[in-house]
Amino acid sequence: MRTVVRGGLVVNATGAAPADVLVEGERIAALAAPDAGLTDGWAAAADRVVDATGRYVLPGGVDAHTHMEMPFGGTTSSDTFATGTVAAAWGGTTTIVDFAVQAKGTSVLSTLDEWHAKADGQCAVDYGFHMIVSDVNDNSLKEMDACVAAGVSSFKLFMAYPGVLYATDGDILRAMRQATGNGALIMMHAENGIAIDQLVARALAEGRTAPVEHGLTRPPELEAEATGRAIQLAGVTGAPLYIVHLSSAPALAAVSQARDAGQNVFAETCPQYLFLSIEDLARPGFEGAKFVCSPPLRPVEHQAPLWRGLRTNDLSVVSTDHCPFCFAEQKELGRGDFSRIPNGMPGVEHRMDLLHQGVLAGELSLARWVEVASTTPARMFGLYPRKGVIAPGSDADIVVYDPTATQTLSAATHHMNVDYSAYEGMEITGKVDTVLSRGRVVLADDTFTGAAGHGRFLRRDLCQYLH
Ligand code: URP
Ligand code: ZN
Ligand code: ZN
Ligand code: ZN
Repeated sequence: MRTVVRGGLVVNATGAAPADVLVEGERIAALAAPDAGLTDGWAAAADRVVDATGRYVLPGGVDAHTHMEMPFGGTTSSDTFATGTVAAAWGGTTTIVDFAVQAKGTSVLSTLDEWHAKADGQCAVDYGFHMIVSDVNDNSLKEMDACVAAGVSSFKLFMAYPGVLYATDGDILRAMRQATGNGALIMMHAENGIAIDQLVARALAEGRTAPVEHGLTRPPELEAEATGRAIQLAGVTGAPLYIVHLSSAPALAAVSQARDAGQNVFAETCPQYLFLSIEDLARPGFEGAKFVCSPPLRPVEHQAPLWRGLRTNDLSVVSTDHCPFCFAEQKELGRGDFSRIPNGMPGVEHRMDLLHQGVLAGELSLARWVEVASTTPARMFGLYPRKGVIAPGSDADIVVYDPTATQTLSAATHHMNVDYSAYEGMEITGKVDTVLSRGRVVLADDTFTGAAGHGRFLRRDLCQYLH
């Protein structure tokens, strides 16, 4: 199968230039300037010509933080690997890295087998796994090495959720020491869960039960404290550190300080922290439950520092933390007790579009948009140059993006398996037009043309900022 993507502006993290792209089989075979004379021949010999005139041609998005069918908070996130990866494709994301979750008392490697069984044959786009280690013990530590050898080269630990996923400082230290040996990247959910649990208990005892209390009992100070502590522990062990879903200005300040001191500390933020705020969590009635995620949505003044962090590279990745729960049955579990609202928000479909609003607003350049949404996550998690770049030899994961089309985000039209949109009614400029996943057109003319099982498991290398 030969496809030519013609007439577009190819945007990589290094910049943008008009070019035609030749795809042979699953890979990009060549790029040529549109006036090179070459591409008439390419088009004549192609099985398919995609007209990208007036469009951007982007490397497929890499969403390095999703939770499909994740058991959490007494229920399971509502997108399966099948439905969630279709939604990803609609939004121009052609790779996800999802989290396998070790339950306490179980083995890391059996957990990995379990997650392979869930995803195998289901995914519409390529996927990898991180491993959540909730039970740090001698066996788990040994199994981390085997995970790295099996292409799972990053491990998430939790300073939040005592009794569930929580790791003590000692656990964290041991896991970090293991990572310095096997080259893996430690990812941290940095919130002080012990202190938060006290604030939650007190709120409930005082009859404060509404969704907004979720935000008020998880203040930025406790994210900043945990972020700083994780950085210090990483410093002591020499381990690199990646802070996930960073939401607040003081947590970012801790990251910036460590980076300025030369420490290998990286961080991601998510669209919900750039576009939504605690005002959404405070919507009347139980509506705020739709916006419950951890760390929580912050006062609006945290947004400008996050955008600035994306420009200075103190925030180097934007992932979604896609973890959808239906409002009707699942968020409902916490009516009358905010602490029982399942934590997580839908978003895998809208990351590229929302960040494009940042391009239009002058917050990000075109190249930086591609860098934070595709190139850096690919490098950070050992997938580059297979993913994250439009270049000969790379997988033909290509998004043709129309920067002038308009759309209105809504649960009525999105493809995620969840009964609400966090961005209901939001008007967006820009829209995904055509998507190729490893050379196959999976989205065109407003129709999904991919298939479950097309997506393959990606054995990832080590973090390419370090190795
Ligand atoms: O609220 C969230 N973020 N849910 C997903 C689990 C996690 O901590 O990333
Ligand atoms: Zn987390
Ligand atoms: Zn800096
Ligand atoms: Zn998450």
